[in-house]
Amino acid sequence: MDLNITGRTALVTGGSKGLGFASAEILSREGAKVAIAARTEETLLKSAKKIGAVPIVSDLSDRAGVLACIDKTRDMIGNPDILVINTGGPQPATFAQTTPDGWRTATDQLFHFTIEMITAFLEPMKEKSWGRIVIITSFAAKEPVPNLLYSNALRAGIHGLVNSLASEVAEQGVTINAVMPGFIKTDRMTSMGLVLDKVAASIPAKRLGQPSELGDLVAFLCSDRATYINGQAIACDGGLLQGI
Ligand SMILES: NC(=O)c1ccc[n+]([C@@H]2O[C@H](COP(=O)([O-])OP(=O)(O)OC[C@H]3O[C@@H](n4cnc5c(N)ncnc54)[C@H](OP(=O)(O)O)[C@@H]3O)[C@@H](O)[C@H]2O)c1
Repeated sequence: MDLNITGRTALVTGGSKGLGFASAEILSREGAKVAIAARTEETLLKSAKKIGAVPIVSDLSDRAGVLACIDKTRDMIGNPDILVINTGGPQPATFAQTTPDGWRTATDQLFHFTIEMITAFLEPMKEKSWGRIVIITSFAAKEPVPNLLYSNALRAGIHGLVNSLASEVAEQGVTINAVMPGFIKTDRMTSMGLVLDKVAASIPAKRLGQPSELGDLVAFLCSDRATYINGQAIACDGGLLQGI
């Protein structure tokens, strides 16, 4: 299937590793001109070189960093036709371990960052009558994970945003969807201290996902083939979420 995105421009944040990188790699292979943003310059440059992407060194955890990333993106590739919003996950915590400052930090990291990115690039998409926004969230938005309170709460809020915004922009050729990874084998997943064999046994597919399996879904949603899918949160989880 030709995704028909040759010549489209794309920004993938958190794009140097894991799920963001896998998404960027497939978009690039499909012919988009891709920029990837992340903090660690060395990894970012290596990853960008590997897939022929434009590197944008950015710390997206606060507003100044997000605005700087937006400016650099405009300088390097113009306003992107495709925006994949992704970043590192928030700190683990039970509710008893959360703090007001922790909530503010996690909200900046996941929610305010998402709003800033959409605010910056939505209008140009509407003017072109073509745009794709995909937000990488988590299955935890539907099936809360103990000890991931910040993630459980804030990602569900992002799904509310996706639902609401889709109905405002659908007529203008813009789609906005979320993808919910289940357990996918990335650096983050392998560093979380989980017993991965046990995790795999709990998934109907009996294995962890590969980053490219999530990347394929992201690339499809970013394509010309996904014009009528809007306002959805779609899981890529080997059957983990059931009846939700
Ligand atoms: N993997 C899974 O199974 C899974 C499941 C559910 C949800 N998720 C969520 O999916 C997202 C991506 O996960 P992943 O597994 O791909 O993680 P990962 O392998 O750790 O990759 C995270 C990417 O985001 C970048 N990043 C992190 N913090 C950043 C910041 N403040 N500013 C700019 N870039 C930043 C990282 O680069 P730098 O560190 O160099 O900045 C890296 O490129 C996370 O939010 C995670 O919670 C993942």
